[in-house]
Amino acid sequence: MSSERKHARTDRRPTLSIRGLSIAFARRQVETTVVKDVRLDVWPGEIVGVIGESGSGKTLTALSALRMLPKHARITAGGIRLGDTELLALSQGEMRALRGDRIAFIPQDAMQSLNPTMRIGRQVGEPLELHRGFTLARARDAAIRLLESVHIRNAEQRAKAFPHQFSGGMQQRAMIAMGLALDPELIIADEPTTALDVTVQAQVLKLIKEIRDEHQAAVLFITHDLGVVAQLCDWVYVMQNGAVVESGSVEQIFTRPKDDYTRMLLAATPSLHAPSRSGAVT
Ligand SMILES: Nc1ncnc2c1ncn2[C@@H]1O[C@H](COP(=O)(O)OP(=O)(O)O)[C@@H](O)[C@H]1O
Ligand SMILES: [Mg+2]
Repeated sequence: MSSERKHARTDRRPTLSIRGLSIAFARRQVETTVVKDVRLDVWPGEIVGVIGESGSGKTLTALSALRMLPKHARITAGGIRLGDTELLALSQGEMRALRGDRIAFIPQDAMQSLNPTMRIGRQVGEPLELHRGFTLARARDAAIRLLESVHIRNAEQRAKAFPHQFSGGMQQRAMIAMGLALDPELIIADEPTTALDVTVQAQVLKLIKEIRDEHQAAVLFITHDLGVVAQLCDWVYVMQNGAVVESGSVEQIFTRPKDDYTRMLLAATPSLHAPSRSGAVT
């Protein structure tokens, strides 16, 4: 079957494995379940897309794997494994050590996540100082190499800049460089290119592919943009109202969607083309 997952028969484990995940918000004693029984895997070297309209539970699913849910949200059922580690069993301290080290997070808006008062180079190298005990000088040299690896020109000079001196695309690339500092096995990106113009978006997507190819990282990529999924992803989960309604290879989802909701999403994006290996959809 062409839609079979390419890693399915290997003896390796998924990098990220979410099982039976449910998340509820509590407001005035009333609990509302907003993520329902989600099952999702990301294998090493795989870019997995999560699509679905706004409010379908994509961000909360991603944030749960980082244990960064909003204050009133609670995981009511399920498990989340990173390799052999059950993340929901870790203490906050253990989780903090693991974030940025084994899992990198690329948020939608880099500017909000960068520290405006810290030079870019220092920020990009900071995980190495904090997690690996690098000296300032060694972290700075590593940061310059990381900035070069995300294609920031004159990295040695640019490292001295503050975030507001960077364009939106450069800020997002700096965030990615920071995320890569510790060579994480899992990268979670939540609509990382939504705020960028089309050309810069294409550069960032290319960069994410390069990272996957070079580091064999597993990538969980959240987006509402089906065009991005077609370009980037290997496997897709479709979410609606907090539940996964369908999952499959990009080729299968785009050419033989099973669920009515998936068909509706595809129909709403008429200019869409499937990945080149399967030709145009329409
Ligand atoms: N901070 C919050 N407080 C209350 N409800 C929230 C909060 N964040 C999200 N929700 C609820 O959870 C649902 C899923 O949200 P989210 O995961 O952010 O959706 P998506 O990323 O797919 O747009 C939303 O429709 C909303 O009802
Ligand atoms: Mg979201």
